[in-house]
Amino acid sequence: MPHLIPVTPTHYVQVEQIAQQTWPTTFGSILSTEQIAYMLNWMYSPDALAEQIEQKGHVFLLAQSDTGEPLGYVSYELNVNDKPVTKIHKIYLLPASQGQGVGRMMIDYVAKQAEKAENIALQLNVNRQNKAVSFYEKMGFEVVGEEDIDIGNGFLMEDYIMMKRL
Ligand SMILES: CC(C)(COP(=O)(O)OP(=O)(O)OC[C@H]1O[C@@H](n2cnc3c(N)ncnc32)[C@H](O)[C@@H]1OP(=O)(O)O)[C@@H](O)C(=O)NCCC(=O)NCCS
Repeated sequence: MPHLIPVTPTHYVQVEQIAQQTWPTTFGSILSTEQIAYMLNWMYSPDALAEQIEQKGHVFLLAQSDTGEPLGYVSYELNVNDKPVTKIHKIYLLPASQGQGVGRMMIDYVAKQAEKAENIALQLNVNRQNKAVSFYEKMGFEVVGEEDIDIGNGFLMEDYIMMKRL
């Protein structure tokens, strides 16, 4: 059975490699090559990962196969903006590991942690053109808004905000 382990600095390279392998297939038809490279560097450099985990309080978990092979990762933040809401910041599985129930397992795990913390909802941002929107709908999320976020260098994130009540 796939399982989740906490990401420590020894895993940063693995997380970055998963992102490097997953983003082009996920966003290749949605974002420019330049924007993908810019966002990967912004979010997945060792310093960026350390900041998310050590300063911003994001819980970062690596999904591994039963033989210890990396499959993907999820990150989330309890009580985001001091509200009883858990934000899922990242959820990515390697192309070969998609469609096998690991994504559902990760959402269920985060929902359980959120409930333990007495949070009443899960929230996330997703690109409006990402196929993952349908996955989230299947998991019980609904679109509650949209926002275009200026991330510098002339790049925009054109997102839906989705929420699932717990
Ligand atoms: C989105 C993602 C995390 C989903 O995880 P997954 O392991 O592939 O999904 P699961 O196998 O757990 O699927 C759970 C259910 O959702 C359905 N589903 C999965 N992807 C779907 C999609 N794109 N559209 C519609 N339904 C989908 C599955 O059919 C399954 O339904 P079932 O339980 O009735 O069989 C994964 O596909 C992924 O990493 N995608 C690329 C990266 C990405 O877009 N991440 C989100 C960024 S915001």
